[in-house]
Amino acid sequence: MFEGNLVQLVVLEEKHLDHIVENWNNPEMRRFLGGVIPHSRQSEVDWLQSVQDDMKRQKMFAFAIESLSNDAFLGTLAVHDIDWIARNGRLGIVIHKPENWGKGYGTEAMELLIDFCWKHINLRRLELGVHSFNKRAKKVYLKLGFVEYGTAHQQFYIDGEYVDSVMMEIFRLDTQD
Ligand SMILES: CC(C)(COP(=O)(O)OP(=O)(O)OC[C@H]1O[C@@H](n2cnc3c(N)ncnc32)[C@H](O)[C@@H]1OP(=O)(O)O)[C@@H](O)C(=O)NCCC(=O)NCCS
Repeated sequence: MFEGNLVQLVVLEEKHLDHIVENWNNPEMRRFLGGVIPHSRQSEVDWLQSVQDDMKRQKMFAFAIESLSNDAFLGTLAVHDIDWIARNGRLGIVIHKPENWGKGYGTEAMELLIDFCWKHINLRRLELGVHSFNKRAKKVYLKLGFVEYGTAHQQFYIDGEYVDSVMMEIFRLDTQD
């Protein structure tokens, strides 16, 4: 649907569920999100249904990230918590398999999503939260133009420790209004 040089963003569908179920309980990946709570296949089926419902009501837009070279599923990303009055949204991304980290996929996928938010749904400010220890993700967001605007102290509890969440935001540069 939206193509870069390495990845494409496509509509998230049932065919992606097997990959999500396969990877979602991996603690190495989940520690960068909200901790490790075991998820069953059924909970992922329910999650996809709720995403599709929210998309119909334009509360969020979610995509699967696929490799352009072989269509392999790489992960998911979304803009959610959309406020259509203030034209704000919140972003989230996960590349599922650690062996696919650091290959440029996340940066390009986020670039495509930000472009979608500016040019297709006319948002003007995007924000996200990133665990303070997540240096790779922070680097990606800084590269894309996000700036830090605060810290949500001890927002998460992961591996026996409280973790701060660094809050970051980006504004559409050409916004006149
Ligand atoms: C965060 C994530 C989306 C980034 O995607 P990615 O494809 O791995 O990132 P990229 O390869 O596009 O870019 C990574 C950048 O971080 C840099 N990097 C990697 N490890 C780093 C580290 N420990 N410290 C600082 N920078 C680091 C890389 O050098 C690269 O920067 P460069 O292009 O200037 O060299 C992906 O790693 C991921 O899904 N991780 C697990 C879940 C997660 O953290 N989600 C985000 C929650 S906020």
